[in-house]
Amino acid sequence: MHKGLAIYPGSFDPPTNGHLDLIERGAKIFEELVVAILRNSEKSPMFSVAERLEMLRELTAHLRNVRIDTFDGLTVEYAKSIEGTCILRGIRAISDYEYELQMALMNRKLEPTLETVFMMPADKYSYVSSRLVREVAQAGGPVKGLVPEIVEEKLREKLDPAYKLRDVRSVEFAEPIGGSELDRRERKRKKKA
Ligand SMILES: Nc1ncnc2c1ncn2[C@@H]1O[C@H](COP(=O)(O)OP(=O)(O)OP(=O)(O)O)[C@@H](O)[C@H]1O
Ligand SMILES: [Mg+2]
Repeated sequence: MHKGLAIYPGSFDPPTNGHLDLIERGAKIFEELVVAILRNSEKSPMFSVAERLEMLRELTAHLRNVRIDTFDGLTVEYAKSIEGTCILRGIRAISDYEYELQMALMNRKLEPTLETVFMMPADKYSYVSSRLVREVAQAGGPVKGLVPEIVEEKLREKLDPAYKLRDVRSVEFAEPIGGSELDRRERKRKKKA
């Protein structure tokens, strides 16, 4: 295990199975891993920072050396403030590489002592991104297998606020087709009369 503290920065809007795969891999090689949610990365995020924090906390509760935090501004400044020694980032495809390389080199210029470490996810998650998950969910498509179950549930609630209520109502107010037994007896009685 690598000594020291690594930071895994991102927007995690929402957390996906790809993120989780990377967190689990990172937790195996670093002594401590801080998943750091960048505040204000998007003007209109789907999930608030508090919601993302809560989801990530729940999803990583089983990993003892992982904690979740939020930050603003430069990643290198945040890393220094918590005495981090590494930045962890994920690479899915060549398309990620160019941007990630630019950022890693810029961060090295800003803080030469901080190393960036790249990890690859399991190939089944190599096409999963938060943006794609948001788009599929907003269009009513299934996101099963792309995000953890609690995220799937939160997406459903977010996109259909009546979802939870509807579920409760369907249990409380459900009536047999053709009305209740009492209604039927009443109708029979009226017919006879
Ligand atoms: N499926 C994945 N496999 C490996 N790394 C990933 C995966 N998804 C995201 N990452 C990496 O996690 C880090 C944080 O990413 P970020 O929060 O921007 O997620 P994202 O899926 O790219 O979201 P968005 O689509 O909103 O940009 C980045 O280094 C990104 O490359
Ligand atoms: Mg991204």
